[in-house]
Amino acid sequence: MTTSELTEQFVLGNYGRFPIAMVRGEGGYIFDEDGKRYLDFATGIAVCSLGHCPEVMQEALRSQGGKLIHCSNLYLIREQAELAQFVVETMMERPGKVFFCNSGAEANDGLIKLARKRAFDKYGSEAGKNEIITCKQSFHGRTLGGIAATGQEKVKIGFDPLLPGFLHVPFNDQEVLRQAVSEKTAAILFEPIQGEGGINPATPEFMACAAELREKYDLLLMFDEVQVGSGRSGDWCGWRTILKGSGVDVEPDAVSWAKGFGGGFPIGSFWAGDECASALGPGTHGSTFGGTPLGSAVSLAVLREIERSGSLENVKRQEGRIRAAVEKWNSPLIRSLRGIGLMLGFVVDEAAMNSVPGFSESGKTPALFIVSALMEAGMLTVPAGPDVVRWLPRLNVTDEEVDEGLALFTAALDVMVETTAKEQKQ
Ligand SMILES: Cc1ncc(COP(=O)(O)O)c(C=O)c1O
Repeated sequence: MTTSELTEQFVLGNYGRFPIAMVRGEGGYIFDEDGKRYLDFATGIAVCSLGHCPEVMQEALRSQGGKLIHCSNLYLIREQAELAQFVVETMMERPGKVFFCNSGAEANDGLIKLARKRAFDKYGSEAGKNEIITCKQSFHGRTLGGIAATGQEKVKIGFDPLLPGFLHVPFNDQEVLRQAVSEKTAAILFEPIQGEGGINPATPEFMACAAELREKYDLLLMFDEVQVGSGRSGDWCGWRTILKGSGVDVEPDAVSWAKGFGGGFPIGSFWAGDECASALGPGTHGSTFGGTPLGSAVSLAVLREIERSGSLENVKRQEGRIRAAVEKWNSPLIRSLRGIGLMLGFVVDEAAMNSVPGFSESGKTPALFIVSALMEAGMLTVPAGPDVVRWLPRLNVTDEEVDEGLALFTAALDVMVETTAKEQKQ
């Protein structure tokens, strides 16, 4: 049986998949069963921060894998404690405590529990201080907590009754946020830059407004950095990249991470400042696989390598090179480029796409149409919403890979423009 047939017969059909099967990865490239090579600017949707199978991950897997793979959180785990130290001292540079789990949705579930438990401990159940405000177009994961928090109807349909107590406000709308907050609010949670929602950064003013409301209503300000965090913005913390030079200085009470945090090893985590971290005492929260010796050692190796190799600086430099190149483009198909660091979104002009031969008949969104064409051409990218093509290259992407990505992207767009012109002439 082919991989496609095996998948069709035995694997739950919950994903829309491209009909290619990946078998090997090396640095910035990934190879399919037919031996075709792809420049990987998808990186497992912002997961493989150092590219495929980096030596440091292999070495950590080998050495920790030969020592101790798993032991319960009933015992102390040295590697977990060292990873937590890295998060506190190097990434956050603020005192606090760290919890480990297995995914982004699970990390966000932890944040929701943290906010509710902290309000419960402080105000009692009668106060009903348990509402969480999140933003429209947000994405916080697929668990029941994650879909309740997510500000997109499509992820909730058919799963009623949803976890109650969530309000969604328009992203970056200070007025509506002010109206939504009350004494019942336990937390405001948002992505400093929305990923799945279309690469939309929060404005410094919105963050400042949320921080002001935190003081007024004694609520937690929590950031979901699952996608932009762990170095993808060019700093360890995405909101700090956004706020740089803005004159606004906002720090959250809690932050979630996953995806690139393990470089491809499944691990999620959240940090909580000292004031609220104590809300989750013994018996309140946990996960069998949270922060195993193996997962912690691999994640720590990845994060240390990001630091050692100067990858944060590389992210900024490559972002600059991409922006400089894109400024010189004048493709009618691309309206703008948005995002920060190496979390970039090319906004596709839907009207221009409508005249591209084959587009309307394809039934695809503009972003998916371009992503598919790029895949054919040997480059992986990811749609973010219907009209944004997302680039998420590895943080240590080379000049050559970026140049190749720019060349493949412009070539694919040029072919679409040329075939449109030809068709219009006929
Ligand atoms: C911002 C954000 N939060 C949470 C999640 C969910 O993470 P996971 O798929 O690891 O559960 C995602 C995944 O795309 C995400 O982008």
